[in-house]
Amino acid sequence: MNDRLHIFDSQACKGDGLCVDVCPHGVIEMVGEIPATVVDRAESCISCGQCVMVCPTEALRLQTIPEEHFERVKSLSFGFEQFHEFLRARRSVRMFKDKEVPREDIDKILKAAATAPMGFPPHTTEVLIIDEVSELKFLLEFLVNHYDGLLKSFSNPIGRMFIRLATGAEIYGELRNHVVGFATKANEDYRRDKTDRYMHGAPAVMIFHANRWTTSYEENAHLVCHHAMLAALSLGLGTTIIGMIPPVVERSKVLRSRYGIPKDNRVLTSLILGHPKYRYRQGIRRDLAGVQFNCTAH
Ligand SMILES: Cc1cc2nc3c(=O)[nH]c(=O)nc-3n(C[C@H](O)[C@H](O)[C@H](O)COP(=O)(O)O)c2cc1C
Repeated sequence: MNDRLHIFDSQACKGDGLCVDVCPHGVIEMVGEIPATVVDRAESCISCGQCVMVCPTEALRLQTIPEEHFERVKSLSFGFEQFHEFLRARRSVRMFKDKEVPREDIDKILKAAATAPMGFPPHTTEVLIIDEVSELKFLLEFLVNHYDGLLKSFSNPIGRMFIRLATGAEIYGELRNHVVGFATKANEDYRRDKTDRYMHGAPAVMIFHANRWTTSYEENAHLVCHHAMLAALSLGLGTTIIGMIPPVVERSKVLRSRYGIPKDNRVLTSLILGHPKYRYRQGIRRDLAGVQFNCTAH
């Protein structure tokens, strides 16, 4: 139990009870005019920091979050229309200029990516950035060789049976319906003239991995990746999520050791990024697969 979880400044506190109201786990209560930690609920605190962030007089601190981690936010200077326009401008970019992504841009992208929500704070998603030409080449060659192996196994019934047993019906279907055809063509193109169909010649790749024993680690990593994607767009960069990379890195001892990926981490998603070669002059309307309000039974 932690009776010093919150440190209240009784001089600054106006007794408005906002911190009590906003706490999702009832960890703060009013004791007379002043809030206090509910000691026997202190363990329920998820360190979301909302109690600190709503206080208009900066009258409390949380022992679990350093004071300097709290930053003032400005009111938004754009509305739905501008935000929607921004989202509509995003495309999966697969053609890049021969120009590297500045490390300052990478830093900004990571800073924005870290604003993504997570099941429970703190983040457990880690990001590996590959932006050296020789490392990109190494990874590309590794992908080609890995998928060669998969194609070889897929080319005979016994190999297919083993893959099906090892991966289950869902992943097997995905491999059979999408991956085999794609990798066949990608590897042919690579062998012909070194065309890169896996990472599309991007000057940088981000690989997202997370500790498999942490809450919502898969969703968290995808959200971090998605935030990174939008941040890159705001910097004039183009990105594409690449599903062909994570399973290869995940399974390869060589790559895991080369990249220092902890043994408890799963490799979940990846993003290529660079300066787009072309400007998109049109967007495209996309509809969700289904939308429904409330119950349909009456
Ligand atoms: C989970 C996921 C995996 C993807 N994997 C690949 C991939 O391996 N290679 C690729 O070129 N595009 C990949 N994409 C990009 C999609 O093909 C792209 O989002 C889709 O065609 C829609 O186009 P848009 O992003 O321009 O709207 C992936 C997207 C997602 C969400």
